[in-house]
Amino acid sequence: MAEFLTDIKTLRARARENIEQGPITDAYGADRDRVIQVLNEALATELVCILRYKRHYFTANGVQSPAIADEFLVHANEESAHADKIAERIVQLGGEPDFAPATLLERSHAGYDESTELQAMVRANLVAERIAVESYRQMIALIGDKDPTTRRMLEEILADEEEHADELKDWLGH
Ligand SMILES: [Fe+2]
Ligand SMILES: [Fe+2]
Repeated sequence: MAEFLTDIKTLRARARENIEQGPITDAYGADRDRVIQVLNEALATELVCILRYKRHYFTANGVQSPAIADEFLVHANEESAHADKIAERIVQLGGEPDFAPATLLERSHAGYDESTELQAMVRANLVAERIAVESYRQMIALIGDKDPTTRRMLEEILADEEEHADELKDWLGH
Protein backbone atom coordinates (compact mmCIF):
# COMPACT_ATOMS: atom_id res chain seq x y z
CA MET A 1 0.00 0.00 0.00
CA ALA A 2 2.96 2.32 0.57
CA GLU A 3 3.32 3.10 -3.15
CA PHE A 4 -0.39 3.50 -3.80
CA LEU A 5 -0.70 7.26 -3.42
CA THR A 6 1.72 10.13 -3.47
CA ASP A 7 1.71 11.98 -0.17
CA ILE A 8 -0.95 14.60 0.31
CA LYS A 9 1.48 17.52 0.15
CA THR A 10 2.84 16.44 -3.25
CA LEU A 11 -0.63 15.63 -4.53
CA ARG A 12 -1.89 19.10 -3.57
CA ALA A 13 1.15 20.81 -5.05
CA ARG A 14 0.85 18.94 -8.35
CA ALA A 15 -2.84 19.76 -8.67
CA ARG A 16 -1.91 23.46 -8.57
CA GLU A 17 0.57 23.11 -11.44
CA ASN A 18 -0.73 23.48 -15.01
CA ILE A 19 -4.14 24.34 -13.63
CA GLU A 20 -5.25 25.60 -17.07
CA GLN A 21 -5.31 21.97 -18.27
CA GLY A 22 -8.45 21.33 -16.25
CA PRO A 23 -9.01 17.60 -15.80
CA ILE A 24 -5.67 16.62 -17.39
CA THR A 25 -3.07 15.97 -14.69
CA ASP A 26 0.44 14.48 -14.66
CA ALA A 27 -1.13 11.09 -13.96
CA TYR A 28 -2.82 11.05 -17.40
CA GLY A 29 -1.02 8.04 -18.84
CA ALA A 30 -2.15 7.96 -22.46
CA ASP A 31 -0.72 9.68 -25.52
CA ARG A 32 -3.21 12.54 -25.57
CA ASP A 33 -2.70 13.56 -29.22
CA ARG A 34 -3.17 9.98 -30.34
CA VAL A 35 -6.33 9.58 -28.23
CA ILE A 36 -7.78 12.81 -29.64
CA GLN A 37 -6.94 11.60 -33.16
CA VAL A 38 -8.72 8.25 -32.77
CA LEU A 39 -11.67 9.95 -31.07
CA ASN A 40 -11.96 12.26 -34.08
CA GLU A 41 -12.02 9.21 -36.37
CA ALA A 42 -14.80 7.78 -34.19
CA LEU A 43 -16.63 11.12 -34.35
CA ALA A 44 -16.44 11.13 -38.17
CA THR A 45 -17.74 7.55 -38.20
CA GLU A 46 -20.69 8.42 -35.98
CA LEU A 47 -21.57 11.46 -38.10
CA VAL A 48 -21.54 9.42 -41.32
CA CYS A 49 -23.67 6.76 -39.58
CA ILE A 50 -26.22 9.42 -38.61
CA LEU A 51 -26.44 10.57 -42.26
CA ARG A 52 -26.76 7.02 -43.57
CA TYR A 53 -29.48 6.08 -41.08
CA LYS A 54 -31.39 9.32 -41.75
CA ARG A 55 -31.25 8.75 -45.49
CA HIS A 56 -32.55 5.21 -44.95
CA TYR A 57 -35.21 6.35 -42.48
CA PHE A 58 -36.69 8.89 -44.85
CA THR A 59 -36.49 6.73 -47.97
CA ALA A 60 -37.72 3.51 -46.32
CA ASN A 61 -40.48 5.34 -44.48
CA GLY A 62 -43.83 4.80 -46.13
CA VAL A 63 -42.33 2.74 -48.96
CA GLN A 64 -42.63 -0.78 -47.68
CA SER A 65 -41.96 -1.18 -44.02
CA PRO A 66 -42.48 1.52 -41.38
CA ALA A 67 -41.16 -0.79 -38.64
CA ILE A 68 -37.66 -1.01 -40.07
CA ALA A 69 -37.73 2.71 -40.83
CA ASP A 70 -38.43 3.37 -37.15
CA GLU A 71 -35.47 1.16 -36.24
CA PHE A 72 -33.24 3.25 -38.55
CA LEU A 73 -34.42 6.42 -36.82
CA VAL A 74 -33.74 4.99 -33.35
CA HIS A 75 -30.22 4.08 -34.47
CA ALA A 76 -29.67 7.53 -36.04
CA ASN A 77 -30.55 9.16 -32.72
CA GLU A 78 -28.30 6.82 -30.75
CA GLU A 79 -25.38 7.50 -33.12
CA SER A 80 -26.05 11.20 -32.56
CA ALA A 81 -25.77 10.71 -28.80
CA HIS A 82 -22.49 8.85 -29.35
CA ALA A 83 -21.15 11.71 -31.49
CA ASP A 84 -22.03 14.22 -28.74
CA LYS A 85 -20.28 12.20 -26.03
CA ILE A 86 -17.15 11.79 -28.17
CA ALA A 87 -17.01 15.50 -29.08
CA GLU A 88 -17.41 16.42 -25.42
CA ARG A 89 -14.55 14.12 -24.40
CA ILE A 90 -12.28 15.51 -27.16
CA VAL A 91 -12.80 19.00 -25.72
CA GLN A 92 -12.16 17.76 -22.16
CA LEU A 93 -8.86 16.35 -23.39
CA GLY A 94 -7.91 19.73 -24.83
CA GLY A 95 -8.56 18.84 -28.46
CA GLU A 96 -10.86 20.13 -31.18
CA PRO A 97 -13.76 18.02 -32.43
CA ASP A 98 -13.59 17.84 -36.24
CA PHE A 99 -17.02 18.34 -37.80
CA ALA A 100 -15.64 19.48 -41.19
CA PRO A 101 -18.09 18.09 -43.77
CA ALA A 102 -15.64 18.19 -46.71
CA THR A 103 -13.43 15.44 -45.25
CA LEU A 104 -16.03 13.55 -43.25
CA LEU A 105 -16.35 10.46 -45.43
CA GLU A 106 -12.63 9.90 -45.88
CA ARG A 107 -12.08 10.19 -42.11
CA SER A 108 -14.94 7.81 -41.27
CA HIS A 109 -14.35 4.10 -40.76
CA ALA A 110 -17.82 3.20 -42.02
CA GLY A 111 -19.28 4.22 -45.35
CA TYR A 112 -22.36 6.07 -46.56
CA ASP A 113 -25.05 4.21 -48.50
CA GLU A 114 -27.87 5.15 -50.88
CA SER A 115 -29.51 1.78 -51.36
CA THR A 116 -33.19 1.96 -52.26
CA GLU A 117 -34.19 -1.57 -51.26
CA LEU A 118 -34.83 -2.44 -47.64
CA GLN A 119 -32.68 -5.54 -47.55
CA ALA A 120 -29.76 -3.65 -49.11
CA MET A 121 -30.19 -0.94 -46.46
CA VAL A 122 -30.20 -3.50 -43.66
CA ARG A 123 -27.09 -5.11 -45.08
CA ALA A 124 -25.22 -1.80 -45.47
CA ASN A 125 -26.08 -0.82 -41.91
CA LEU A 126 -25.08 -4.21 -40.53
CA VAL A 127 -21.70 -3.95 -42.28
CA ALA A 128 -21.23 -0.41 -40.87
CA GLU A 129 -22.13 -1.59 -37.35
CA ARG A 130 -19.66 -4.46 -37.61
CA ILE A 131 -16.97 -1.98 -38.66
CA ALA A 132 -17.87 0.19 -35.65
CA VAL A 133 -17.74 -2.82 -33.29
CA GLU A 134 -14.29 -3.77 -34.56
CA SER A 135 -12.88 -0.22 -34.45
CA TYR A 136 -14.22 0.49 -30.92
CA ARG A 137 -12.67 -2.77 -29.73
CA GLN A 138 -9.32 -1.68 -31.19
CA MET A 139 -9.58 1.77 -29.59
CA ILE A 140 -10.32 0.21 -26.19
CA ALA A 141 -7.26 -2.03 -26.58
CA LEU A 142 -5.14 0.99 -27.56
CA ILE A 143 -6.17 2.94 -24.46
CA GLY A 144 -5.77 -0.01 -22.11
CA ASP A 145 -5.82 1.24 -18.52
CA LYS A 146 -4.22 4.61 -19.31
CA ASP A 147 -7.41 6.69 -19.61
CA PRO A 148 -10.26 5.04 -17.69
CA THR A 149 -12.82 7.77 -18.50
CA THR A 150 -12.34 7.55 -22.27
CA ARG A 151 -12.22 3.79 -22.02
CA ARG A 152 -15.51 3.62 -20.11
CA MET A 153 -17.18 5.87 -22.70
CA LEU A 154 -15.90 3.70 -25.55
CA GLU A 155 -17.06 0.54 -23.78
CA GLU A 156 -20.57 1.97 -23.41
CA ILE A 157 -20.66 2.95 -27.09
CA LEU A 158 -19.33 -0.48 -28.09
CA ALA A 159 -22.20 -2.15 -26.20
CA ASP A 160 -24.70 -0.01 -28.15
CA GLU A 161 -23.06 -0.85 -31.50
CA GLU A 162 -23.19 -4.56 -30.67
CA GLU A 163 -26.88 -4.17 -29.91
CA HIS A 164 -27.41 -2.33 -33.22
CA ALA A 165 -25.65 -5.12 -35.13
CA ASP A 166 -27.71 -7.74 -33.30
CA GLU A 167 -30.99 -5.96 -34.12
CA LEU A 168 -30.04 -5.58 -37.79
CA LYS A 169 -29.11 -9.24 -37.98
CA ASP A 170 -32.70 -10.04 -36.98
CA TRP A 171 -33.98 -7.93 -39.91
CA LEU A 172 -31.86 -9.85 -42.44
CA GLY A 173 -34.10 -11.95 -44.67
CA HIS A 174 -37.35 -10.33 -43.47
FE1 LIG B 1 -22.50 4.86 -32.69
FE1 LIG C 1 -24.53 1.86 -34.27
